[in-house]
Amino acid sequence: MAVEEGRRKFFGFALGGFAAVGGVLSLVAMKKTWDPLPSVQAAGFLTVDLSPMNEGELRKVKFRGMPIFILKKTSSMKKNDARDVVVEDVNYTVVVGLCTHLGCIPDWISSKQYFKCACHGGIFDSDGMVLASPPSKPLQIPPFEINGNTLVLGKEGPEYKQLTAEA
Ligand code: FES
Repeated sequence: MAVEEGRRKFFGFALGGFAAVGGVLSLVAMKKTWDPLPSVQAAGFLTVDLSPMNEGELRKVKFRGMPIFILKKTSSMKKNDARDVVVEDVNYTVVVGLCTHLGCIPDWISSKQYFKCACHGGIFDSDGMVLASPPSKPLQIPPFEINGNTLVLGKEGPEYKQLTAEA
């Protein structure tokens, strides 16, 4: 009789233990399901270290499916207080690399120091301002924040807000 009762207690504890472990594992699995994937979390922002860039270099990065052009201006390029992104006293052009006419990707023609759209011949200067139609609007400035020598795309920092307020 005592053996039977001992068995029952043992099975009771074992069953309770399994249920507790199962419950914890279920909670862990549910949490994993609810948490955003690392790629989704990272998709919100893109950090670009500007320190390795040379004067006159155009860097292209992809952000939220769009090409972003980052041009480190040379001392001979005109400055544009209304559009330049100034990082540690260096002026950059930071624009979405999509033509504002019909969305083609313009090329940077370094010998002419302008962006030319092959689709219909639109031209933008090194600031992204229209030099030749058909586009009627300048290249768009993407949301950014400056953090030291790093550009954080996707964050609306004070410099971005100031530029877009002036535009
Ligand atoms: S899409 Fe660029 S000029 Fe038409």
